[in-house]
Amino acid sequence: MKQFGITPKILEFDHCHEVGEHFQIGKGDLVFISDRTYLQYFKDSISDQALRLNYRSYVSGEPTDVMVEAIAADIKDYQYSRVFAIGGGTILDVAKLFALKQTVPVVALFNKELDIIKDKQLILIPTTCGTGSEVTNISILELTAIQSKFGLAVDQLYADYAVLIPELLNELPMSVFASSSIDAFIHAIESYTSPKASAFSQLYSKKAMEMILSGYQTIATAGADARKPLLADFMIAATFAGIAFGNAGCAAVHAMSYPLGAVYHVPHGEANYALLTGVYKSYQALDPDGPIKELNRFLAKILGCQTDAVYQAIEQLFSHILAKQALRDYGVSKADLETFTEAVMTKQSRLMANNYVPLNRQQVLEIYTKLY
Ligand SMILES: [Fe+2]
Repeated sequence: MKQFGITPKILEFDHCHEVGEHFQIGKGDLVFISDRTYLQYFKDSISDQALRLNYRSYVSGEPTDVMVEAIAADIKDYQYSRVFAIGGGTILDVAKLFALKQTVPVVALFNKELDIIKDKQLILIPTTCGTGSEVTNISILELTAIQSKFGLAVDQLYADYAVLIPELLNELPMSVFASSSIDAFIHAIESYTSPKASAFSQLYSKKAMEMILSGYQTIATAGADARKPLLADFMIAATFAGIAFGNAGCAAVHAMSYPLGAVYHVPHGEANYALLTGVYKSYQALDPDGPIKELNRFLAKILGCQTDAVYQAIEQLFSHILAKQALRDYGVSKADLETFTEAVMTKQSRLMANNYVPLNRQQVLEIYTKLY
């Protein structure tokens, strides 16, 4: 059986103040937002009676279990019935956990040792064009004990509303745009080749890939500033990709990038990109006649290349957006390749189940080694 659905209601607004008017954010609301985003966009839209949390005062890099425990301790006396999160994917992922009746101990929650009950309304507002977290039921944290990212995927983590406001992307620096939009592309391609993909999820995957590649082609020709009129398209494309992978799942690219991201603090989209073409070239070699054949035809048409050269063409096009680096350039050692492989094979079965073809330990190690 295959299943497809879109759970949150998707609201689109032109301006942030309209969101404030619509939701009347105030008493009884917990709001995850950076001071910068608050001052720039929401100062007049969030009343002082709401409890505002600046995620950056808890962690400088990617979110961890330790940070969630610290937040839970700080808000334990505040009664709230709605959770708003306005930020990048990591902020949305953390906020999802606070719509649950019991969030901590968070490691127990992630190990599904707690009863998972959602008892607050959840409203997610992305400020990047990447994670698609606003439409998925997944929260990803770095669990410090295992030194890797780990995902909790349960329907109680779905938002009630996903709110899209392209205005929020106006100040997005090129580096964040690059990393987040490449992440969105990878959500689209990994969900396309997942065994859980359906005709419905593939429709969203394809449209997201087409929009992102076409935007990149414009940037490749006209320069980084050419992204600005396209930001609303990228926000929609990232949400399309979120809908696709929320249904069909991500796979080996994400699984194999997690140890790199966690150990060497490489931004999520960039870590994914370090793995992307290596994984797809292996898929191509292992089963060239499966659904990847149609994918390659589709990509070749957009990229204007032969079907057997799409992954080189992707690297060529993406080089205008973000430099691809070898794993050793991030500080990865030869010994890490074994450790990373071990972590992927033992801790990332949720994602590895969605691979286009099953990858065994030897094949995972070979991909890492080729990218080293
Ligand atoms: Fe991702």
